[in-house]
This record gives sequence, C-alpha cells and structure tokens, in this order.
Amino acid sequence: MTLLNKTAVGTAHGKIILIGEHAVVYNMPAIALPFMATTTTVTITSIEGETFIDSDYFTGYLSETPEALDGFKTALNNVCVYLNVSAQGLHIDVESLIPPERGMGSSAAVATALVKALFNYFEADLTDKIVKRFVDTAEKVTHGNPSGIDSTIVNSLSPIYFKKDESPTSLPLDMDGFLIAADTGIKGQTKEAVGDVAKLIQSAKDQAKNQTISAVNRIGQLTFQAKDAIIDNNVPILGEIMNQTHRLLKDLTVSNRQLDTLVQSALKAGAAGAKLTGGGRGGCMIALAHSMEHAKKIASELEKAGAIQTWIHPLQAEVGEAFHE
Ligand code: MEV
Repeated sequence: MTLLNKTAVGTAHGKIILIGEHAVVYNMPAIALPFMATTTTVTITSIEGETFIDSDYFTGYLSETPEALDGFKTALNNVCVYLNVSAQGLHIDVESLIPPERGMGSSAAVATALVKALFNYFEADLTDKIVKRFVDTAEKVTHGNPSGIDSTIVNSLSPIYFKKDESPTSLPLDMDGFLIAADTGIKGQTKEAVGDVAKLIQSAKDQAKNQTISAVNRIGQLTFQAKDAIIDNNVPILGEIMNQTHRLLKDLTVSNRQLDTLVQSALKAGAAGAKLTGGGRGGCMIALAHSMEHAKKIASELEKAGAIQTWIHPLQAEVGEAFHE
C-alpha cells in the first residue's frame, strides 16, 4: 500500500451522562459532560486502491469491516455521496482513548472525528449541525433509536442540558465536587437496553407499562432537580439524586450485577452518590466525591471491587480536566 501526500485530521472526545440516560429517548431532559480525558483522532491519508481502516478495533479493508462498524461505514459513505467524491483511495487511521462500547460515547466520537476528517480532507465547509446530521444517521445504525445526546456532547466543549429535538443549552458547571468514572470492563449493550426499555413501554401488561412510564417521568423530574443542585453547588443533594436515579435505571432493567457492585462499593467508600452512566448492562458507572483525596480513595476501592480503569473528573469550572487514575 503506497501512502500519498495528502493528510487531514478530525477530532472528538468522550462523554459522561451525569443523569437522564434512557429517559432522554422519551423526551425527558438529560445532563451530559464532555470528557476530555478520552479523545479520538481520525487521520485520513490518500492511498492507491481500496480504502483501508487502521484502528485498535479493526484493521483491514473497508469491504471486510465487521457489523459493529456499520455505523462508521454509513457515515463514510453518506459524507462521500454528499460531497460527490469516491469513498475509495483513503487510509483511515483511528486513534481512540475512549474505551469502546462502555457508555462513553465511543461510536459517536469516532463517527464525529471521521466526518470532520473527511470534510477537511476534501476541503469542504462544515458546521456542527452538518456533523451532527451525519453522526445521528450513523448512530441510528449502531444504536437503533438514539436521542442525539451522544452526537451533541462528543462535539461540545461545555456541559449541556439536553432535550431531544431541541437545541441543547450549555450548563455552567462549577461545583465543589469530583466525579469518579469507573469501567466495569464489560461491553455495554446500549442497543439492546434501549430496545428493551421500548418493549417495556409498549408492554401489553398495563401495570408494567405504567411503572415504566412513571420511572421515565421520575428520571425526568430528578434531572430537572439535578440542574438546580448544580446551580446551587449542592453536592449532597446531587449525590442523593444520583442514587435515586440508579434505582430507577435498575427498575428499567438496564443495570447489571457488576454495575450494582461498583455502585455499592462507591457508596460504602463514602461517595455522596453513585449510578451507572450511558446505556448500561455493562460499561461505566460514576460516583460523586467532596474532595480530591476522597475521590482517590473511592477510585481505589472501585478498582479493588473489579473496575479495570478509573478516572477522576473535577467539577470546578477552572480545572475541568480529568485525571487518569
Ligand atoms: C446512550 O449514551 C444514552 C441513551 O440514553 C441512549 C440515547 O440517548 O441515545 C441510553
């Protein structure tokens, strides 16, 4: 394979959903933070012949990609059709620090970085709105029925208060608290979890249906209260809201044993609150601590309880960067 001279780059970052996952699919609000400690860079170089993908997840020709990359392929093909260019003759290198399939926005971030790199490569103008349109289409292939929160936050520099089909509002975050994110090491199942919540909602059994709808509505109310707790810098209240939300997400069947174990360990270590984050059924959880020292202790307890990786994310406006534990 001969690499030719032309090169272009696109970037995006991971995300943490603080509160509102799953309910956001049903028009409830959600709050998400950009997670700058985890980034994705896509670099496109010209080659002769068939397009070649080089990533930790898959290395090989475009025609050989596994089903898990169907969303990626959709983004590539749709951008090339839109720009009226060939999808061949590209060497696409994907460098991602976002653990894949862990509820941290990996698929949306990779698709976003790809769309940006393609527009750079073909020297075409791009707006955030156009990026989002391509990424939402790719995410539909990957996740079935996405709310659009992932495609928004992986390309946003500030925390957002998000409602489906509405413009997101930026939510200033300046709290005396620290978020710990921990990876169970188990691939999440966002598509299945979103599909199963939809089935619960459509369930013929009225009682199950009512319970599900009231859990979704309650998560919406808690998200609204979480926004106030953030504005008031009230860490204990935000923690309690996170705990209640985790219980509701359990009712929606999107937690699992490993997530529950990590949530319990964080609470035992004195966290103000803890919950799963993202699609669930694996992936990551988050916990809230009052100080950096306390956050380090919680991270260490989470690792003892089985987390394969932890991060500490300060919630103060002037710091705003995550530390890798
Ligand atoms: C996935 O990161 C968040 C979910 O709410 C799905 C979505 O909003 O697209 C589970």
